[in-house]
Amino acid sequence: MSSVHQTSIIAVIGAGTMGAGIAQVSAAHGHTVLLHDAAPDAAHAAKASLGKRLQGRVARGKMTADEAAALLERIRPVAGLDDLAPAGLVIEAIIEDLTVKQDLFKKLEAIVDVTTILATNTSSISITSIARCLETPGRVVGMHFFNPAPVMKLVEVICGLATSQHVAQQVFDLALGWGKVAVYAKSTPGFIVNRVARPFYAEALRLFEENVADPATIDALMTQGGGFRMGPFELMDLIGNDVNYTVSKSVFDAFHHDPRFRPSLAQLELVNAGHFGAKSGQGFYVHGDGVTKPAPRTSQALEELPALDGVDLAAESEAEGICFIPTDGRLARDVARQRGKPVVLFDVLNPSSAAPRLGFATSPDVTCVIVERFIRTMNSQNIVCTHLPDWPGLIVMRTIAMLANEGFNAVLQGVATEADVDLAMRFGVNYPLGPIQWARAIGLERVLCVLDTLHSLTGDPRYRASLNLRIAATA
Ligand code: NAI
Repeated sequence: MSSVHQTSIIAVIGAGTMGAGIAQVSAAHGHTVLLHDAAPDAAHAAKASLGKRLQGRVARGKMTADEAAALLERIRPVAGLDDLAPAGLVIEAIIEDLTVKQDLFKKLEAIVDVTTILATNTSSISITSIARCLETPGRVVGMHFFNPAPVMKLVEVICGLATSQHVAQQVFDLALGWGKVAVYAKSTPGFIVNRVARPFYAEALRLFEENVADPATIDALMTQGGGFRMGPFELMDLIGNDVNYTVSKSVFDAFHHDPRFRPSLAQLELVNAGHFGAKSGQGFYVHGDGVTKPAPRTSQALEELPALDGVDLAAESEAEGICFIPTDGRLARDVARQRGKPVVLFDVLNPSSAAPRLGFATSPDVTCVIVERFIRTMNSQNIVCTHLPDWPGLIVMRTIAMLANEGFNAVLQGVATEADVDLAMRFGVNYPLGPIQWARAIGLERVLCVLDTLHSLTGDPRYRASLNLRIAATA
């Protein structure tokens, strides 16, 4: 029976971005790490560059010089696969290519002990496919770290069809012992994070394509309004539009072109232009020394008008014959017609934001004076405002609804539990709240209404609600 102990020797294959980080994490927790890379000297180079980074940590008082030396000493670059024989666990982090990974695992099977666990850090390949060519496929498991591995807390433990429960449990417990947040996921396209995160980018791209707002305004609403650490456009520019587009395309292909995952033509056009983002100097933004980021669109109250009494951002309210309503997806003009009163609709606001920003829309019969007085009312509570076109679900709410919908769908399909979906999104991509937990806090009926309205107004099947969400909302 496979087992991996705190004392086990760990082999890390691939000494690139991820392999180097995983080797550091393993060695930091006392394991001897055999680090191998097909490129001569890559393992030595990775160790040398880790040595420099550790010196920086010592200088900043984060660790002692002895601890740094001991950690480094535990990492042993090895030239050949045969040198990996003593490992109790192998973590593979080589090129993302199925046949190259299968070939490596077949070779390993002939080298390591029959009890050695074979883990892969693949971000998109089926664990079942990697394992199928082995005599003992039960010991192959996904151990998906996030970049940078020493910093990001999440590890997705991914089971293919053949993965033994005992093997999965071993790497799960090991990750917990390393201070990581571990979640179980079924081997399905994108696992948890790379699947549930797609709408974070996709809805922003849609809103941009629909001319609802520019990237800086959408980013500001998502960070200052939604409490996300980075806006979708700055994040796509950081990841690289080429990389982000490729991941979106691979998830879309893997789901047999389910419209829920359709990639954006606007982003493809940036890729076609070579506008990859920070690394190429231009993406959605221009990057470089001395370049200032464009300011988000902020609506101002110009005149000295009185604030409005009785406006409540937590619920529906009415002041001076105007309805103030948190968005449920419907257009302000439709709600106004139904109520027979002018309507101001506002987006979700995360109250923990240090500089909160609220997006809002108005029905056509809301006067400029009321708009200015609403802005003044919000400004007096230190909330800045962006007056948006009357658009279904506005920006933050639409994104949360779609993230939660994908989370519910992943749960429906047995990919992970609800709790693990939320943990994965908080610790894999730093969301301020898990999307399902967030949707529950907003109210599932309202979230469902956002999706149903988007679905009926756009006719786009990407907005169809997950059966799980519908059942939970109507329970
Ligand atoms: P990388 O390109 O930085 O490093 C890959 C390393 O593997 C290179 O040093 C290369 O020489 C070596 N290599 C290639 N073929 C090999 C073979 N047959 N045997 C031994 N070494 C070989 O790639 P990165 O970004 O570290 O990705 C590695 C794996 O981790 C991929 O499967 C990727 O999908 C996955 N991953 C990447 C993340 C990221 O943000 N970069 C995040 C999570 C997973």
